[in-house]
Amino acid sequence: MKRLFVLVALMAGVLQLNAQEKREINYDESAVPAYILPDLLTCLDGQPVKSVTEWETVRRPEIMHILATQEYGLTPQTAIEMKSKLMAEDPHALGGIATSQQVMLTFSGQGKTVKALLLAYIPNQRQGKVPVVVGYNFQGNHSMSLDENILYSPFFERLTDRNDPQLKRGIQMNRWPLEMIVKRGYALVTMDYQDIYPDNPAGEPLSVISLFPPSKDNDTKWQAIGAWAWGSSRMADWVEQQPWADQDRLVIMGHSRQGKAALWTGAQDTRFRVVISNDSGCGGAALSKRQFGEDIATIVNSFPHWFCPAFNQYADREESLSFDQHYLLAMIAPRHLYVASAQEDRWADPKGEFLATVATSPVYRLYGLDGIVGSQMPAIHQPLMQHTGYHIRAGVHDVTDYDWQCYLDFCDKAFSIKQD
Ligand code: GCU
Repeated sequence: MKRLFVLVALMAGVLQLNAQEKREINYDESAVPAYILPDLLTCLDGQPVKSVTEWETVRRPEIMHILATQEYGLTPQTAIEMKSKLMAEDPHALGGIATSQQVMLTFSGQGKTVKALLLAYIPNQRQGKVPVVVGYNFQGNHSMSLDENILYSPFFERLTDRNDPQLKRGIQMNRWPLEMIVKRGYALVTMDYQDIYPDNPAGEPLSVISLFPPSKDNDTKWQAIGAWAWGSSRMADWVEQQPWADQDRLVIMGHSRQGKAALWTGAQDTRFRVVISNDSGCGGAALSKRQFGEDIATIVNSFPHWFCPAFNQYADREESLSFDQHYLLAMIAPRHLYVASAQEDRWADPKGEFLATVATSPVYRLYGLDGIVGSQMPAIHQPLMQHTGYHIRAGVHDVTDYDWQCYLDFCDKAFSIKQD
């Protein structure tokens, strides 16, 4: 009897998987449904927003509340203890152009601790304080270079098989042109995102969320994206204490799921003056109502631990959304926002990412600033750089040197930095 039950359960699982695999993903522009984007500048009571003050005191808080209660979950406002300990310092990193610091952050709460290993590269050649780019890596600090001195991030340190291919050094070096970043005068501060929340549906007990009292309401419970955003703000806390760091020139960059988290970080934490989303797609910069590429049903089924449970109600019901991803992007205003797509990354809907960026322009205009306008996407490798920016490059879902060149150009422009 028990065996039969197990067999039926297994078959049901397989069927469910097949149903998901067979889910039709729309890649046909002519099948994009007609939709009207909810208006950023109309308050919930129907009143139009006419001034920066109305935006900042009424509409922006309304939108933040919508995003927190319908999509990403409520971030606790209470602080927990964070201790930092310098584990290693190398004044001759990257062939002598940088100083690297490895700092263990220990977070405590509810009688538990979670550790995350921060890695910073600080340009040695600097006059005064330097701008700082903050961004998570996916495969551990050791994946970003071949440097044997880089310690394993706690998430990878826990792997019991020391021959695990994930412990190989440099496996994601291609995404981190460290020398380019440092030579252009920027410091980089990173850590492995899985130190903050191990990226799987059972990851919560080892995540920073477990250090806080449980959420009172399940629907609006913060989950992995909320936790990753919280972790980026802790990197900013650390940066704030560094004498070499220019607090007014703080940047956050995130790729893909970390692009989503970077945008949610930038929405909540105004210390980030430039917010960059690389191929962030569904739940990031791409408009959900277009239903092109990954859709809400697909993402919440595959990654039930990313968004707050209230977001599930929009699975296969995108038309019922009273908001869309341009709300998230508009939270960055009047700070600088840059969105990037890759031509072959149809899963992330490049056009939807572009249109959401364009849709933020009325808010920037309220501040007297130029956003991107028009419905025509720029050609490949023709970046648009106003107060907000956008580019689409050739190739697949990834982070390339070209992306970084554009990001650093955009940051230079935003911070009025002239390269020699
Ligand atoms: C999956 C997921 C995307 C996500 C991406 C990534 O493809 O469906 O939403 O952006 O992983 O993080 O690489």
